Amino acid sequence: MSIKSPVNHHIKDSSLAPPGELRIEWASREMPVLRLIGESFAKEKPLQGVRISGCLHITTETANLALALQAGGAEVALCASNPLSTQDDVAAALVANHGISVFAIKGEDNETYYQHIVAALAHQPHIALDDGADLHATIHKDYEHLIPAILGGTEETTTGVIRLRSMERDGALKYPIVAVNEADTKHLFDNRYGTGQSTVDGITRATNILWAGKKVVVCGYGWCGRGVSLRAKGMGAHVIVTEVNPTRALEAVMDGYQVMPMKAAAVVGDVFVTLTGGLKIIDREHLLAMKDGAIMANSGHFNVEINIPALEELAVEKRTVRPFVMEYRLKDGRHLYLLGEGRLINLAAAEGHPASVMDMSFANQALCARYIAQKGKELTPRVYTVPQDIDADVGRLKLSSMGIAIDTLTAEQRRYLESWHEGT
Ligand code: ADE
Repeated sequence: MSIKSPVNHHIKDSSLAPPGELRIEWASREMPVLRLIGESFAKEKPLQGVRISGCLHITTETANLALALQAGGAEVALCASNPLSTQDDVAAALVANHGISVFAIKGEDNETYYQHIVAALAHQPHIALDDGADLHATIHKDYEHLIPAILGGTEETTTGVIRLRSMERDGALKYPIVAVNEADTKHLFDNRYGTGQSTVDGITRATNILWAGKKVVVCGYGWCGRGVSLRAKGMGAHVIVTEVNPTRALEAVMDGYQVMPMKAAAVVGDVFVTLTGGLKIIDREHLLAMKDGAIMANSGHFNVEINIPALEELAVEKRTVRPFVMEYRLKDGRHLYLLGEGRLINLAAAEGHPASVMDMSFANQALCARYIAQKGKELTPRVYTVPQDIDADVGRLKLSSMGIAIDTLTAEQRRYLESWHEGT
């Protein structure tokens, strides 16, 4: 491996590069679709001369995305999309071994988090990749002078897409966005199986609890909530779902879970997981009602789903009892436990989604970056869904990488499905 010239960066410790490199390589074994895309990018160079700034969780999987983009000719700069999600060894390897500028340190404060976003913008991107829309929002609020050179951007997560659609509605959006989250090959797998597994993993690593027999309250029954419910149930937990959407609540009931309002769930839950994208899902009144020893974790994008300021106010004492576990002793003597500062627990206390599922998400990101490089100038500033052919290609390539063949329609079957003449 050749050592590239030093690049602009702010990372924890460059001596962490060797283990980081090994872990990036390990993840790549589980990312065959992204690897294929990287190989074709290396030949065709569709991103030659394109500057890409990515505000993404700095993980082994993101490293493989950055390397695929770089193979396509892009110059890549990265910053973290969450103060607690950075894998410092990965950041070190990208800087030391691959000439990728990285601005990210696990545990950075909010001020540093935004300084890192600004540093990634000094790269003057043509394409902005985001996870949560902090990068896009910063560009639109404070760095508008960069907008004329920006061909477009992508957005990885539900919360980010919601923010960007709100910008679109307000007429504030100034460049086209491809909502990667909306690809079927993204949210049906990453949000469900990725969040399902990695959230249970994060809570387990932080606490070492036995899930069997626990009353686990899952707040929100979107794709992420479904995944966490499924996996918690698989571990033997008794799952209770809270929802505000009647159809989703009904789905949770028919999937076999108990559904109740948060006020009722607060009294009975042993473990609470928020995944709604909303605000104060666990509020002061719920904190006041919880059992002694209740554990709270968040797996939604922002750390606002649990009312942490209220928890701080109610507490007379707090102490870190294990890494990522804060014990709050309340005035009435109860103890409540907050994991990972209420930030994405799967990335704070574990390694995020496994590489095999990020393979599909980041294959979509890579192909959408190419799409924006080729078509961005023709697109108006709107939020677009992922082009159907990209979504379908990712699914096909993933199946093929797993050695799974499927059937194809015969000509007769196709004609039948396309016609309205035949009925009873
Ligand atoms: N989001 C959730 N898991 C992730 C991972 N492993 N890498 C990057 N982004 C993620």
